[in-house]
Amino acid sequence: MSTPGKAHTAPVDQFFMVTEARFDRWRALLQAGRAWENIMNQEQPNRRVKQEAVSNSFQELLQWEDFFAYPGHALLRALKERIDSGDAAGTVRLAQAISAALLTHSYRTNLSDWESEEQSSINFGERIAPTGEEAAPHRPYFEVLFVSPARPSSWPELAQELRKLRRPQDRFVYEPVFVGSFEDAVLGAILNGSFEAVIIYEGISFASNRNNPILRDFLTSRLGADGGGMDAGQLSLRLAQGLKQLRPELDIYFLSDRRVEKMAGNLGAESIRRIFYQVEEPLELHLSILDGIADRYDTPYFDNLQKYAQRPIGTFHALPVARGKSIFKSNWIRDMGKFYGLNLFLAESSATTGGLDSLLEPTGNIKVAQDKAARAFGADRVFFVTNGTSTSNKMVEQALLAPGDIMLVDRNCHKSHHYGAVIAGAFPLYVEAYPLTAYSMYGAVPLRTIKRALLDLKAEGKLDRARLLVLTNCTFDGHIYNVERVMEECLAIKPDLVFLWDEAWFGFARWSPFYRRRTAMGAAAILERKFKDPAYLDAYKEQQKKLGSTPNEKTLLETPLLANPEKVRLRVYQTNSTHKSMSCLRQGSMVLVKDCDYHTVEEQFHEAVFTHASTSPNLQIIASLDVARRQMEFEGYEMVNRAIQLALDIRREVNSHPLISKYFRVLGADEMIPAEFRNSGFVDYLRPGVNWATAVKALTEDEFALDVTRLTLVCGSAGFDGTQFKNLLAADYDIQLNKTSRNSVLLQTNINNTRSDIAHLIKVLVDISRGIDKKLEEGGDSAKQAFAARVKLLMTDVPDLPNFSCFFETFRENPSSKTSEGDMRTAFFGAYREQQCEHLKLFSPEIDKRLKDGPELVSANFVIPYPPGFPIMVPGQVIDRGTIEFMRKLDVKEIHGFNSSLGLKLLNPSFLHAAPRPGHVARDQARNAKRKPARAGA
Ligand SMILES: Cc1ncc(COP(=O)(O)O)c(C=O)c1O
Repeated sequence: MSTPGKAHTAPVDQFFMVTEARFDRWRALLQAGRAWENIMNQEQPNRRVKQEAVSNSFQELLQWEDFFAYPGHALLRALKERIDSGDAAGTVRLAQAISAALLTHSYRTNLSDWESEEQSSINFGERIAPTGEEAAPHRPYFEVLFVSPARPSSWPELAQELRKLRRPQDRFVYEPVFVGSFEDAVLGAILNGSFEAVIIYEGISFASNRNNPILRDFLTSRLGADGGGMDAGQLSLRLAQGLKQLRPELDIYFLSDRRVEKMAGNLGAESIRRIFYQVEEPLELHLSILDGIADRYDTPYFDNLQKYAQRPIGTFHALPVARGKSIFKSNWIRDMGKFYGLNLFLAESSATTGGLDSLLEPTGNIKVAQDKAARAFGADRVFFVTNGTSTSNKMVEQALLAPGDIMLVDRNCHKSHHYGAVIAGAFPLYVEAYPLTAYSMYGAVPLRTIKRALLDLKAEGKLDRARLLVLTNCTFDGHIYNVERVMEECLAIKPDLVFLWDEAWFGFARWSPFYRRRTAMGAAAILERKFKDPAYLDAYKEQQKKLGSTPNEKTLLETPLLANPEKVRLRVYQTNSTHKSMSCLRQGSMVLVKDCDYHTVEEQFHEAVFTHASTSPNLQIIASLDVARRQMEFEGYEMVNRAIQLALDIRREVNSHPLISKYFRVLGADEMIPAEFRNSGFVDYLRPGVNWATAVKALTEDEFALDVTRLTLVCGSAGFDGTQFKNLLAADYDIQLNKTSRNSVLLQTNINNTRSDIAHLIKVLVDISRGIDKKLEEGGDSAKQAFAARVKLLMTDVPDLPNFSCFFETFRENPSSKTSEGDMRTAFFGAYREQQCEHLKLFSPEIDKRLKDGPELVSANFVIPYPPGFPIMVPGQVIDRGTIEFMRKLDVKEIHGFNSSLGLKLLNPSFLHAAPRPGHVARDQARNAKRKPARAGA
């Protein structure tokens, strides 16, 4: 594992570290080289020791460099010669040049990076750009993995042949890298994020001659491949499937010297882009590789918008800023034009003609862009949304829910879902996440709680109305669900339940092979495969036999239930704030759909788009959604890996730094997720011994996992509440962050962060810690006592988190029902009439009197304090003592829906007793259910 500013090498089997580990190895070589150079004037034995250290460092590095085109055999040979000949200065110079080229990626465009001084006379022209092409526009560079049974000694020649295929008109340029076995191919795809295409020849061997037991474990457990008993064709096919599982974006080509037609017809060959007969024209292969890249590179909407901007268009409609004339000619607002630049205004239009397509009814390039996004994210279809995931959520909920439908939802979810329920008239049935009271935040909702809610609904004859389950994955604080298991077990109870996974923060996870299985689309793909497997049906039948015809609730709660594959309808929706984790402008969001019954809601979906989407969507946001997709398909794997690595660096550095750790701590998985939800025994990523195999086991088995890129930094122990600390970082250190709790702040790493950002953060934490030390020392006992009291207040005297109480009986069909869903919409609109509401001051004795003697206090609106950011009151909710006490202890300034000078807004008792019960909704539903064919129920 690496430390900013400190070179030591990371083992290659360390979880997540693979990309950065390479830089560490080069840094280690460089340091060893410098140490050697510095003692060149000393005795020979000393020099030999240092030379040996350099040589060892080089050997360690060398075994992994085969997977990368750069620096390549020639430069590595040159480096070895310098080490062997005792040329310390030359070794350092070359190692330095290679490290710099790797770090800055300059070798992708700079020919001289591929040459050592001795070789500069050699013509490397063919390697990157054909001669005379230096002035050509930027051609993106990538690498292609060739998995070939040919003798390694023939690889350089084969590579040279491939380079000869380059043509001046090629839009991209690639370098080939050869490996000879299944295992090395997998390792290569893991280690080298620049691979964009893989060419698999038939006849490869299985085992690598690198001895890596962890990799072997990983291969057998994750890719189901152990090499035994597979013929050459099967092995190559299994490799193609395995690589797609790891990195679905890769283009895979297959070269067979026999049976190509048979192979092409093989159902398992769907992961292969094209199959070639080996001896045919290699130019075809070259062109296919470039064509595959072009398919991902093309951003139809963005490309068209750029073309549109260059056309001399006269506009006779709205939007004066389009073309920028009102700005650039203005006496007063010219600075706006200067700041944003001409292109922004040239690319503005309110027209949907001129090839710009319409977001509301896309048929042209927006549609193609959405289809490409669907491919990239593993969905059946995608909707681009330009008003954030707040809107995406409301759209999905309006489309899927009708008045009276029951929506099971985490009470702690984003407010858009609560408003979604109001809009749709659906009855929310709140399921509670486990509390993390010590940090004034919630975790995620245990599966047992969700199953119990469904079983209760079933017992009450209401399961048919339970239509949608809404969960946040991952939560703001980083709790990731076992999405596959949640859906599988819920479908076992209600085979047509629809799922909405709010992955506002988690869109990037698609590009991590570790996280992907825990995303909505990743898990849906796994379940789709599972439900089609005849073995699953057998297992289901077996389980049914074991459970018997009337299993009791305890058994059902405790058994990992299998769904009936003959009955399930896999209906999965995901919303993600593309702008939160990818290179997309603010408010860019997507709705991903994988719904086998989509045709039944398609019209409603269009209505929902028409309801919520602006008729003037921002073209730049649409274009950036398109471009964000392109970037993730090419660079997502490497960038996400780096974001994870940086997060691990921060975690380790903060928690082990002697000064910082006196006052601050980043919470590990064990502190964010109670042990009962970590069945695999996984404790934390930073524990010694954690590697791919253990991490994958935890991600497969455990009920919850922690997204390491979301770091809860405890600052209460430094005497700061979350808001105070956030303000301090912003005002004094130019560090911005978002969420806070009573005693913590949430730090996040994303694809934009660099090691310098981390170095800055660590330095700031050291400075602040030093400041506290100094203050305590100089202030004597009284300062120490005051500090201890403040820490106690923040860390120990924490208020209990109030659970959802219940809806007032007026808003429930049957107040004695076991399930707590309620008609929130009637309560919400009840508050629109002033005479139906009253206000009571939070600290007034009247509140305590009403809590004791009634009439009950019933909230007229949503009350959402920031932090913690979830509604502690919703319209129609009975306000209990716990909620009042929580409110009274809250020391935050921002509380949406609460005006302290007026007090709590309540629905008044006379309205509550006169309002009609929601039974009419249920009656209407029953009537409709008779008319329509009933939905499948358990
Ligand atoms: C879980 C969750 N869902 C949805 C949203 C809304 O997303 P957006 O800001 O893109 O509207 C947020 C915003 O923070 C969120 O945290």
